[in-house]
Amino acid sequence: MQAERTVKNILVTGGAGFIGSAFIRYLLQRVPDFKGKCVNYDALTYAGNLENLAQVAQDPRYAFVKGDICDQVKVEETCKQYAIDTIIHLAAESHVDRSIHGPLVFLETNILGTYHLLEVVKRHPTIHFHHVSTDEVYGCLGETGLFTEETAYSPNSPYSASKASSDHLVRAYGKTYDISTTISNCSNNYGPYHFPEKLIPLMILNCLQRKPLPVYGEGKNVRDWLFVDDHAAALWLLLQKGRKGETYNIGGEAERRNIDIVKTIVKLVAEATSTSETELTQLITFVPDRPGHDFRYAIDCSKIKQELGWHPQHTFEEGLRDTVKWYIDNQPWCSHVQSGSYRQWIETNYANR
Ligand code: NAD
Ligand code: TYD
Repeated sequence: MQAERTVKNILVTGGAGFIGSAFIRYLLQRVPDFKGKCVNYDALTYAGNLENLAQVAQDPRYAFVKGDICDQVKVEETCKQYAIDTIIHLAAESHVDRSIHGPLVFLETNILGTYHLLEVVKRHPTIHFHHVSTDEVYGCLGETGLFTEETAYSPNSPYSASKASSDHLVRAYGKTYDISTTISNCSNNYGPYHFPEKLIPLMILNCLQRKPLPVYGEGKNVRDWLFVDDHAAALWLLLQKGRKGETYNIGGEAERRNIDIVKTIVKLVAEATSTSETELTQLITFVPDRPGHDFRYAIDCSKIKQELGWHPQHTFEEGLRDTVKWYIDNQPWCSHVQSGSYRQWIETNYANR
């Protein structure tokens, strides 16, 4: 059993994104013992939104650095400036559909970006490096079976291929240069502050705005859904207790078919806004399937449960209800994201930093 790692000053790459910002809010709002510095290192692509961090922006433990993970010099300077002992790497291009239309940036950010970070860690081997990855590296399941940490990699989209490559690099650097690394592969996250290009937030906003709800193929594809705060809790545990060189799967134990999720969202939005469910159901529109669409993902997360005592705290029904409520209650965030004006907020607040 490895001794618990002390996390003092942490660099979060991609901290302005959906999961990165949830992790930072979790650390600064729910871990009172954390007394160090939490540095959000993010290039602020279309997916990066500093409004996600408005609740913690004034916390003296928080700092933001606008930077690209491919900029080794800047990463290294930032690590030195803040005496970083831990990097949690979430920065990525993360949307499968975008990777189908334009793979290059996925290779640049997800593969080369990870390489550049690892080069910095190689020169500063006291830094522990945790890499956040996806269950999509394992490929596609049929009606039965679960991905374990031993499942062979078999990625099917440019996105998952780029994440698989980055996982291999992390593993190889750990073995070859004896740096301290861990990897987690998680299932589909959902929750507040999720960019509305992904299934759940897109369906909620389209429902609220009476726009079509585009379901790919017949809607029978299955994903395992993990509430983002449960993921943040797992990541915090892993940083402290994850064994060097190991991989951990993280899942929500909540497999659902896409069409069933869309129907549940319709029901929840209808209830919350006193609208006719029949009217909203008519918005469901079956559209041509995604090329290479993986049929099913499902995770066996017994390793992290047994080794670290982590369990998902939210059922899918509770988590989805809270998520729908969050989008209804946070219309300014939604309209800034949809109009693109969140980019101006960044310019106004961070132009000179
Ligand atoms: P996201 O798209 O919401 O956020 C990505 C963040 O990375 C953004 O803030 C963006 O500005 C930043 N970024 C992108 N390129 C960068 C670069 N070159 N340099 C610095 N910052 C850059 O992504 P997410 O959903 O929060 O996912 C976070 C991580 O978790 C990713 O590595 C993703 O592959 C992985 N993951 C996500 C899910 C999911 O369901 N969202 C599931 C499994 C794994
Ligand atoms: P998505 O949220 O893009 O995550 P991922 O592709 O990484 O699993 O999609 C989740 C599922 O929902 C996936 O099977 C594709 C499907 N989907 C739709 O049916 N319609 C949509 O508009 C989107 C974005 C996704």
